[in-house]
Amino acid sequence: MTAAAELHGPTRARAAEILARNDLGHYTVPTHGLYPFQWNWDSCLSALGLAHLDEDRAWTEIETLFAHQWDDGMVPHIVFHRPDEGYFPGPDVWQTGRPVPTSGITQPPVAGFAVRRLLERTRDAEAARRRAAALLPAIDRWHEWFHACRDPEGTGLVAIIHPWESGRDNSADWDAALSRVPTEGVAPFERRDTRHADAAHRPTEAQYLRYIWLVQHFRALGWDNRRLHDASPFRVVDPGFNAILLRATADLAWVADALGAPEIARRSRDRLAAGLDAMERLWSDEAGQYLCHDRVAGTLVPSRSVGGLLPAFAPISGMRADALARRIEELAGRCRYLVPSHDPAAEGFDGKRYWRGPVWLIVNYMLADGLAAKGKARLARRIVDDSLALIDAGGFAEYYDPMTGEPCGGKEFTWTAAMVLEFLDGRDGIPSGDEA
Ligand code: GLC
Repeated sequence: MTAAAELHGPTRARAAEILARNDLGHYTVPTHGLYPFQWNWDSCLSALGLAHLDEDRAWTEIETLFAHQWDDGMVPHIVFHRPDEGYFPGPDVWQTGRPVPTSGITQPPVAGFAVRRLLERTRDAEAARRRAAALLPAIDRWHEWFHACRDPEGTGLVAIIHPWESGRDNSADWDAALSRVPTEGVAPFERRDTRHADAAHRPTEAQYLRYIWLVQHFRALGWDNRRLHDASPFRVVDPGFNAILLRATADLAWVADALGAPEIARRSRDRLAAGLDAMERLWSDEAGQYLCHDRVAGTLVPSRSVGGLLPAFAPISGMRADALARRIEELAGRCRYLVPSHDPAAEGFDGKRYWRGPVWLIVNYMLADGLAAKGKARLARRIVDDSLALIDAGGFAEYYDPMTGEPCGGKEFTWTAAMVLEFLDGRDGIPSGDEA
């Protein structure tokens, strides 16, 4: 255990307790009540926390997710392992026809990154190599799926076709594109999220109608991913999502090299090179950061959210990393806790509403990791310190108000606890919490 972990002993113990509480044996729920199933990127990031407690269990988390990969290669955003009335939309709305029901869309592909990290840190190299080797082709297939189904024109970058795919579900980045989604014909429904969390922290009714319209539309197309991209009125190229895919692609190449799979390594490096070139088209000098591209309207979306800062997590150039660091410094002057999911100076900023301002520890983790890797240890440190200060003051919440630190959304969150274990451990260049 490092000095940081000892210093923060009670915090560490509490994080471990939350992981145990949300562990259903072969998968974790993000939190009981609000999110009672397995979520894709929650699981992959939570595996990093689980690995501090039980490596075998960490691998199982990712393996369970991939056991529900679709035949076409997609890894779904939710696996509905067992019925639960507490969540909407459930399997009856998605109707994806899977043996174990799943949703029909995906989420940010962090798996390649997580597998590399587990493999690199393992205390049981033989078991880790065996388990990574089994996941390697499945992750490669998922990446292949992205390029085939979400970049049919071969631009190098993939689009999301539903705001929930972004992982930043309620970001202001989607407002303009989502406003073009119709609401007619949506079957009456009752939301469940506002039973578990404050409605003022959650999306509005109008947004929910459009979310469900998209689900019904894709369902009517039989969840055929060869058709969904072009048929969706919502197609947005998110720099954050693509940065995660590029980082995972780079990491998958590393894993493939380590395991002697040269074909996968080569394919991954080709995709990485094309994606990094294409990412330049999302850069805006005026905004000082990356922006989303609305593929239907053919324009950049002038919304300065954290999605445009997340490329710091990908192997972008030093010049771009410098500019992103400057943007984060600028945000530091506008709030108490880094990193707000939306610029506090922007119209529509809301410090408590889900992805329209609040701080998320998983985003902080990816930013701190990327910045530290690019020599920006001081800024990474500040992000880690702010993250741990939020935990000390408000517990392990889903997200936090960047102005006041108020904990918001769900409580006792799995990936928040997992990120705390990562921050306290402080390996892989992420500065730990004891060096102040
Ligand atoms: C919310 C978040 C999403 C996350 C899910 C479960 O929908 O926006 O990113 O995966 O909750 O925690």
